[in-house]
Amino acid sequence: MHTKGTCCCSFEDYKLTTEWLLNQTSHRPKVAVICGSGLGLLADGAANKQTFKYQDIPHFPVSTVPGHEGRLVFGMIEDTPCVFMQGHFHLYEGYSLCQVTFPVRIFKLMGVELMLVTNASGGICPDFKVGDIMIIKDHINLPGFAGQHPLCGPNDERFGIRFPSMSDAHSKDLRGLVLDVGVELGCSDFIREGVYCMVSGPNFETIAEARMLQVLGCDSVGMSMVPEVTVAKHCGLRVLGLSLITNKVSLDYSREEKVNHEEVLEICKMRAEVLQKIVTKLITRCQQQSINTH
Ligand code: HPA
Repeated sequence: MHTKGTCCCSFEDYKLTTEWLLNQTSHRPKVAVICGSGLGLLADGAANKQTFKYQDIPHFPVSTVPGHEGRLVFGMIEDTPCVFMQGHFHLYEGYSLCQVTFPVRIFKLMGVELMLVTNASGGICPDFKVGDIMIIKDHINLPGFAGQHPLCGPNDERFGIRFPSMSDAHSKDLRGLVLDVGVELGCSDFIREGVYCMVSGPNFETIAEARMLQVLGCDSVGMSMVPEVTVAKHCGLRVLGLSLITNKVSLDYSREEKVNHEEVLEICKMRAEVLQKIVTKLITRCQQQSINTH
């Protein structure tokens, strides 16, 4: 059923996977965290964990990227039941967007209300430094402009409406909360806010492409997250995205350095611990302020 490049998953597929998971675990997550490349550590702080390999979950795609573990971890962050995706799926791996976003609808059917997404991206904004954490204020769905959009095709009203608004895709309340958490943790110096642009990859951008993105108002560029956010917003989840700036995108023909995946993973390792602290504190705060309930 889930062969690469084919669409679409039926409501029954989503239901079957959800029921399978709910039969295997007594966890009933309210928050889902999608951990980006090399950021799987985010799940480590959870208590009472229960882990499933993607390959063992019916209909779940399997991640093929180094640094992506491919496990779904249920666990508690203080009093909040959470589910973590250690590793996620990308367009460049050959998956359809229906497969890339499959877990998001599973989260919705399991009762999740809030989805946090972390990923790595290249900094375009000249003020950004490597190691900065960018709160995603808004995004540009570049593949979506070209018809590579997870909501193309028949609309299932059980998930959401045909023409959803995306003008408030990234929760303002939650963005504010991250800024507060940053102050408390003493890491405001490297917390930024900006516009993220998704490209399909797998190559990093040419200089001309990077310059075009800068003119378009993008502060950073990466190869993930936007399809998941779009599907989450469509089905009524609240969303917050954090993007770790792992490299500076080349905007200048005289610059010799070239970005590579190893460098990206290295920076992720360097910031994984602080990101874990931010995410943990944020989830706790959401629980205290009931910000994750509508
Ligand atoms: N471009 C696209 N994706 C990325 C980058 C980049 O420079 N860095 C990390 N992911």
